[in-house]
Amino acid sequence: MASLYILLLSLLSLLFLPILSSPTTSSIIIPLKHNSPSSPSQSPYQKLNYLASLSQHRAHHLKTPKIHPVSDTPLFPRSYGGYSISLNIGTPSQTIPFVMDTGSDFVWLPCTRKYTCRNCTFPATQPPPTFIPKQSSTSRVLGCLNKKCGWVHNNPDVHSRCADCSTGVKNCTQICPPYLIVYGSGSTGGISIVDNLNLPGKRVPDFLLGCSLFSSRQPAGIAGFGRGPTSLPNQLGLKKFSYCLLSHKFDDSPESSSLVLYTGKDSDTKTSKLSYTPMLKLPEIQDKQTFSTFSVYYYIGLRRITVGGKKIKIPFKYLTPGPTGDGGTIVDSGSTFTFLTKNVHDLVVSALIEQVKYKRAKFVESVAGLRPCFNISGYKTVNFPEMKFYFKGGAEMLLPTANYFSFVSDDMEAVCLTMVTDEAGDSGGPAIILGNYQLQNFYTEYDLGNERFGFRQQLCL
Ligand SMILES: *[C@@H]1O[C@H](CO)[C@@H](O)[C@H](O)[C@H]1NC(C)=O
Ligand SMILES: *[C@@H]1O[C@H](CO)[C@@H](O)[C@H](O)[C@H]1NC(C)=O
Ligand SMILES: *[C@@H]1O[C@H](CO)[C@@H](O)[C@H](O)[C@H]1NC(C)=O
Repeated sequence: MASLYILLLSLLSLLFLPILSSPTTSSIIIPLKHNSPSSPSQSPYQKLNYLASLSQHRAHHLKTPKIHPVSDTPLFPRSYGGYSISLNIGTPSQTIPFVMDTGSDFVWLPCTRKYTCRNCTFPATQPPPTFIPKQSSTSRVLGCLNKKCGWVHNNPDVHSRCADCSTGVKNCTQICPPYLIVYGSGSTGGISIVDNLNLPGKRVPDFLLGCSLFSSRQPAGIAGFGRGPTSLPNQLGLKKFSYCLLSHKFDDSPESSSLVLYTGKDSDTKTSKLSYTPMLKLPEIQDKQTFSTFSVYYYIGLRRITVGGKKIKIPFKYLTPGPTGDGGTIVDSGSTFTFLTKNVHDLVVSALIEQVKYKRAKFVESVAGLRPCFNISGYKTVNFPEMKFYFKGGAEMLLPTANYFSFVSDDMEAVCLTMVTDEAGDSGGPAIILGNYQLQNFYTEYDLGNERFGFRQQLCL
């Protein structure tokens, strides 16, 4: 960590000259575009229809008195297994793609021309765009005394956090110490900065961001939508956010769905046709000062899984999160396939093997790293047992087959269960992680004001 720190400090001079420059004033010009119907070949009726629906949306927007969307951002399915959004940062805006991740709480981006990414999934010839703080008049390095630095380091104590400030706390210029984040796979590190986040129709000043100088195994920056203080929803004071996950068959295509962010006064109105289940609080979340790794997750109460109508006998300890976050179920947009702790995965696999009539494709299992896989070559139509998840409060999630079985090769001969496990057995943390694959073509709503998670099956395109 020491050598990392020195590396970062020496790179700092490349980022900001001068460091901690005094604020400059500048105006922000947002080009005003009108939303004209895209095709000139549209008939007048189509145009009217378009404008009518536009107006209905607008009226709905104006008539919804309490909670309202502040921003509607396109959400793209990606072949790296996640979903991405683009955010406009700085003055003038630089547009940077991010992985939308409800399983973490920090927002960081590839930063400066020196950014390096090891073992990253994009081609070396086509690296993702990086943010250049020097080209933004509103970028500032985060000072150590800033309370946001306490969030980054999960350390509200200025004296232990900012050693150099111990003598002159009043005007100490020490910067917030560099961050290093290790994810399930890969890592990233850099310097905390603040800059404008420019959402359509709303500018958020002093938005905290990680300016990452190096990463490993990261396809893009990450926008953490989890529950910690540094997450995008918390920094914006959102009451709610929602999205619909397009099928992964549209990966890397121009097709997108919407991520909608809502602010406003609390409103307990439920969205029509949505099933809700409460978000579970871990004891640490109530202590606003410190956050454990797991308390940034959205825990929900899974009660039961059925396969072909038969109940899987899941031991209670996996269904309920303990005080430190071990066990229990979370929703994670950053996970591709659903994770089931070994014991639960084994039970689901046995139930499938018992009920599915197709031949096992063991060779495919060994190469795909998924099980069970079945050989369906020669069948015109295939049928798999229904899989259903039941949640606290009565919400039921019946999965479309495509959300838990997938072809694994182009010859379409074998399909595998798209739920994974850790063969090593129990480890700490959530026992069940609902990945984005399972929630394709589901509209989901994170109702933060009312601490509940809502969903309904819906075609997202
Ligand atoms: C990159 O991947 C190789 C092979 O898997 C591994 O040996 C190396 O440590 C990785 N480098 C980083 C920085 O993760
Ligand atoms: C604040 O900083 C200035 C310039 O570095 C220094 O001269 C002054 O003594 C400092 N004041 C305090 C209270 O530390
Ligand atoms: C599936 O079964 C067919 C017929 O038995 C066989 O020819 C084919 O190789 C099998 N495919 C896989 C992927 O196991």
